[in-house]
Amino acid sequence: MIDDRKIHDGLTDFGFTEIPVGEKATRVRGVFDSVAGSYDRMNDLMSLGVHRLWKDAFLDWAVPRASQRLLDVAGGTGDIAQRWRRRGGGPVTVCDINAEMIAVGRDRLQRAGGDAGVDWVVGDAERLPLADGSVERVTIAFGLRNVTRIDLALAEMRRVLRPGGRFLCLEFSKPTQPWLDPVYDAYSFKVLPWLGRVVAKDEAAYQYLAESIRRFPDQQDLAERMRRAGFEKVAWRNLSAGIAAIHSGWRF
Ligand SMILES: C[S@@+](CC[C@H](N)C(=O)[O-])C[C@H]1O[C@@H](n2cnc3c(N)ncnc32)[C@H](O)[C@@H]1O
Repeated sequence: MIDDRKIHDGLTDFGFTEIPVGEKATRVRGVFDSVAGSYDRMNDLMSLGVHRLWKDAFLDWAVPRASQRLLDVAGGTGDIAQRWRRRGGGPVTVCDINAEMIAVGRDRLQRAGGDAGVDWVVGDAERLPLADGSVERVTIAFGLRNVTRIDLALAEMRRVLRPGGRFLCLEFSKPTQPWLDPVYDAYSFKVLPWLGRVVAKDEAAYQYLAESIRRFPDQQDLAERMRRAGFEKVAWRNLSAGIAAIHSGWRF
């Protein structure tokens, strides 16, 4: 859970470590600089490919249309952008704070011949480099957890949406089945850091992943934060018994 009082005191969580608010973006950038090259492979390994099914469900809910422009925040290596375009969605801007992730993504989409209609911009979710009301859809997949002030990022993502536009967030969440907890904990705190060490050569980055998931708001809390940011018709769906969840909200 996020402790909002901490942010007022100039502190925030970086996984289970408490750090000054001003340091988080740099620390997060360091994590993704380090893992950019192995990021896609690690996603498949860690989730045994299940992240693909979650992203399919995410795109099912987004219902891409050629008439809609998408901003994919924290878009990393362009997975959501590529899927949006393949399903007939309009132009996409991928915005990510990390130039390294964007470089890997741009290269990957070019090689797959799927880079037409996708542009890339380095930028912070808390200060999006887009005009008010400039896109019909905003997505963020496995990104919000890494942002320092998520309420600010939610407000920014609403700001850039046109009235009538929709926001969708895919993120790890709180498992709904208590029997899952010990298995999930063992997997998160033993297997993930080990995989990080062996495959990505960065154990700490995957320890951070496991810890940041535990610190992220649960389904109800995130929905409430979205409403406070001004989103309407807020709803969510659990994926894999709540290990991940998709939240949706509209700007009217
Ligand atoms: C786990 S990756 C997700 C990438 C991609 N959305 C996906 O689903 O594969 C998280 C991404 O969030 C980016 N990120 C972290 N903090 C950010 C911020 N404040 N603003 C924009 N991007 C950020 C990281 O650079 C990284 O590329």
